Amino acid sequence: MFKLEVYKNRRKDLMRKMGNGLIFFPGNTEVSFNYPANTYHFRQDSNFLYFFGLNQPDLAAVLDANTGKEYIFGNDVDMDDIIWMGPQPSIKDRAAKCGVENTAPFSELSGFLQNAQNKGQQIHILPVYRGDTTIQLADLLGIHHSEVKKLISEQLIKAVVSLREIKDEYEIAEIEKAVETAYKMHTTSMKMAKPGIIEQEIAGVVEGIAISGGGPVSFPVILSVRGETLHNHHHNNILQIGQMMVTDAGCETQMGYASDITRTVPVGGKFNERQKAVYEIVLKANEEVIKQCKPGIFYRDMHFWAAKTIVNGLKELGLMKGDTDAAVAAGAHALFMPHGLGHQMGLDVHDMEGLGENYVGYDEEIQRSEQFGLAFLRMAKRLKPGMVMTDEPGIYFIPALIDLWKSESKHTGFINYDKLESYKDFGGIRIEDDLLITENGCRVLGTPIPKTVEEIEKTMGE
Ligand code: GLY
Ligand code: MN
Repeated sequence: MFKLEVYKNRRKDLMRKMGNGLIFFPGNTEVSFNYPANTYHFRQDSNFLYFFGLNQPDLAAVLDANTGKEYIFGNDVDMDDIIWMGPQPSIKDRAAKCGVENTAPFSELSGFLQNAQNKGQQIHILPVYRGDTTIQLADLLGIHHSEVKKLISEQLIKAVVSLREIKDEYEIAEIEKAVETAYKMHTTSMKMAKPGIIEQEIAGVVEGIAISGGGPVSFPVILSVRGETLHNHHHNNILQIGQMMVTDAGCETQMGYASDITRTVPVGGKFNERQKAVYEIVLKANEEVIKQCKPGIFYRDMHFWAAKTIVNGLKELGLMKGDTDAAVAAGAHALFMPHGLGHQMGLDVHDMEGLGENYVGYDEEIQRSEQFGLAFLRMAKRLKPGMVMTDEPGIYFIPALIDLWKSESKHTGFINYDKLESYKDFGGIRIEDDLLITENGCRVLGTPIPKTVEEIEKTMGE
């Protein structure tokens, strides 16, 4: 945990922003995977972690924005728990670690909340993303589960986003720890990418490194020579010379902060001319974003910049043609990069996505586009110092999408479909770094992970 004042100040800021009402944070419970006692790795709710730092199941917290009083609800362990789980601190001791004075058994929570409701006090909750939590909230509040969403508070969502999106020095240090582990995950993946090996052999080692570093992975490992499938979690292919292998993987620190890094390497360790040519375009897009990111600019403009860099590069290869700005405005580049440039990252790998992407990446100044490709941009709004962003351009040759667009004669003024036919076996390339927005620009977090053609070939040759 961070020091106690960090959590106290966060809660004080939140209550000040809210002004009045009860703010209710249900912590997460254990989730079973094939029978009740066999549970997934426990993951605390990220908002609960942010404001209380307590990483145990079956807790709930309430902040009274009118009085400033703070409460943690939970049960002390009994002898059975001690026998199976070992000795545990009391709820009082746990609460003291984050500066909360008032504690009560879980059985008192329902009465507490319903009493507040009866007195006309507003209860604010954040969006719920687990069915178990919805049922728990309905039971606690004495309402039907379909009514729970009526308590979701836009004011609370906006207040939480405004706090969580600016990372303090302690959070940045945690994220850098996660990137350091990702360094090991990715350099290991590169060195293992030899012909004959099965993807799952590498994916397992990569995930193991995340767990050894405190872990777990911050999302299921994406590792494939069929990297044109953006989130490919199937690891059954046998690597062959001539293929590019995408590894998109990150980890969490013990406190829950994420990394999210992608590297793409040629199987066997040497780029061929065609691979190198496409790779250099993606690399240029990634690096130009790093050069230009600074507070005040819209991240959507960085997305457009990356898209233009990709169009210019593909024009040089003869795969695209026409005016670059017009191609990007029309969305023709989305055949090759049908996703957004990046997202915020912190306690969630897609930070705060559970609160609603549009609250995190968009605001009154900028609304989400419906255009294919651009619609998947998770973060478009202006950058601020302290934000942590991913910068993850890519070029993919997706046979089904190429065939569809070709059959529809889509953007024929910008795309050379005939030449593209010979690239349908290429796969995909994505390069992703985690950036901290600073006062004047940005900084790539962590020890630089091999990224240029020379650096990758050297690392793979070691
Ligand atoms: N690294 C996976 C993603 O950003 O969606
Ligand atoms: Mn990402």
